[in-house]
Amino acid sequence: MNMPVPKAELHLHIEGTLEPELAFALAARGGVTLPYADAAALREAYRFSDLQSFLDLYYGLMAVLRTAEDFTELTDAYLERAAAQGVRHAEIFFDPQAHAARGVPLGTVVEGIGASLERSEERYGISTRLIMCFLRDESAESALATLDAAKPYLDRITGVGLDSAEVGNPPAKFREVYEEAARLGLRRVAHAGEEGPAAYVREALDVLGVERVDHGLRCMDDPELVDRLARERVPLTLCPLSNVRLRVIDTLADHPLRAMMEAGLLVTVNSDDPAYFGGYVGENFDGVRDALGLTGEQLRELARNSFEASFLEDDEARRER
Ligand code: HPA
Ligand code: ZN
Repeated sequence: MNMPVPKAELHLHIEGTLEPELAFALAARGGVTLPYADAAALREAYRFSDLQSFLDLYYGLMAVLRTAEDFTELTDAYLERAAAQGVRHAEIFFDPQAHAARGVPLGTVVEGIGASLERSEERYGISTRLIMCFLRDESAESALATLDAAKPYLDRITGVGLDSAEVGNPPAKFREVYEEAARLGLRRVAHAGEEGPAAYVREALDVLGVERVDHGLRCMDDPELVDRLARERVPLTLCPLSNVRLRVIDTLADHPLRAMMEAGLLVTVNSDDPAYFGGYVGENFDGVRDALGLTGEQLRELARNSFEASFLEDDEARRER
């Protein structure tokens, strides 16, 4: 077997790594009843018509994540799989509001994920960063309160992101939250241009001051925006299998990734919610290689991009590669 190429994963929701088997094991341990007969029946339900149909299931299944140990186990399982696929650095999203709504405090989540991340370099050879996402279909006040609740944990949180239902929840809704995050010295990213329009990508840059755009593929509708993203080397974290599963595109062969590379964009390949979308970062790389006929040099460019687009310091990024 070929050694997988060293890469960084920059768009990964830790809750989206919850495999059906682990969901059932955690449910049994925590006394939670799931509305599915078994893991196979749950997997059968992973037929999504759009982002919202996925989010409904994704938030529902989080009911099994209750204790810090649950989050530690979830994170360990991801890191082990990622390491086997050549991941050397991971910037991991989590959704504190989705847990707080179920009575699981932010501290429990951060302590649980953190216990795994603390030993990740030693155990899995993966350096990590943690990025706290705000749910864009919740209010700006709720996001501000979440940022406030995170203050005791900022030594373990590198940045903030924005996820959940995009259309109708434009970036500008979170202007104040991102201003406060910047004052606290946090890095800023946001999902934009997944289902929402190119205008949301512009707004994320201009109003929220994001350094990196998650998905961003709808920028291709706006040639001036593409020029700007290329000129400013703003990274875009693409998730090809996610886009097919959430019906953002029809098939992998329709993915704009190759056109985006040819337009000079700094794009990376990531898995988003790998337990739900049919594969981890390795399957995403293999999928676009086969469907788009990417060359070895293009695959190496994608791997290099992943370190350049990361929040590793330059000297660290060079070492990882
Ligand atoms: N898009 C928006 N929000 C999300 C996603 C996604 O693909 N995954 C988890 N939260
Ligand atoms: Zn995402």
